[in-house]
Amino acid sequence: MPLVRVCPRSLRSILLVLASLLLAPTAGCQSTESPPDAGSDTSDVYTQTEPSRNGTGKVYMGREISQVMGHRGAAWLERAERVDKERPDLVIDSMQLAPTDVVADIGAGTGFMTFRIAKRVPEGRVFAVDIQPEMLDIMRERIQDRGIDNVSPVRGTVQDPKLPADSIDAALMVDAYHEFSHPREMMNGLVEALKPGGRVYLVEYRKEDPSIPIKTLHKMTEAQSKKEMTAVGLEWVDTKEMLPRQHFMVFEKPRVGTAVK
Ligand SMILES: C[S@@+](CC[C@H](N)C(=O)[O-])C[C@H]1O[C@@H](n2cnc3c(N)ncnc32)[C@H](O)[C@@H]1O
Repeated sequence: MPLVRVCPRSLRSILLVLASLLLAPTAGCQSTESPPDAGSDTSDVYTQTEPSRNGTGKVYMGREISQVMGHRGAAWLERAERVDKERPDLVIDSMQLAPTDVVADIGAGTGFMTFRIAKRVPEGRVFAVDIQPEMLDIMRERIQDRGIDNVSPVRGTVQDPKLPADSIDAALMVDAYHEFSHPREMMNGLVEALKPGGRVYLVEYRKEDPSIPIKTLHKMTEAQSKKEMTAVGLEWVDTKEMLPRQHFMVFEKPRVGTAVK
């Protein structure tokens, strides 16, 4: 008699993550690749330069945009050490969610943060947005395995999170914003989707600290983050440095007025 029974769906989910691990170009390391849909620029806020290592050469407000982490690195997102190194529990606590909140996890990946948020909004909903269908497939398997009914995976594009207008109470972006190929368009779309007074929680590795062992383009300074968020009409509210390696930055959509395009 088998010691552990594994249902076929759970097995599929495990196999998807294992396959992504086996296919990863360098074990235990973030893989990067071009976004699946490169998209054209609708804004003249970008310039192009010689790409640096792991960079795209596309420059936005003085910052070179990093390459996208490909779905073959999905297992990296679920590495056990993340719980200690990134303290997702503190992130979620600090979001001060109400049980009815509608939350967007933008660049959700495999749902590392999504499922933690879902527990806090039992009467609300989490829209888990990603541009890579393979990431969303892994997430859908998990939703089914766990019988979760308040998470909706959303296939966004590189320019549009594809969220309904005025519908979101809070949006979270963990280790994702720095790789948006069209940050201005994405953020304009997100601001439109936020309710007035809606919050954006931006979590990025601290670029100010060179001792943090993460590729430079995968980090952001607080000053740069503020510059880019306020450029789309968001207001800075707070920065908390309670995480071991990341900034936790809070922005808000003004209750009156519209986003700067
Ligand atoms: C490094 S992973 C982080 C995933 C997740 N936030 C986490 O903390 O585990 C970044 C994710 O952002 C996604 N992404 C990149 N550009 C995006 C965009 N414009 N819109 C939505 N997702 C995007 C990638 O496909 C990838 O899954």
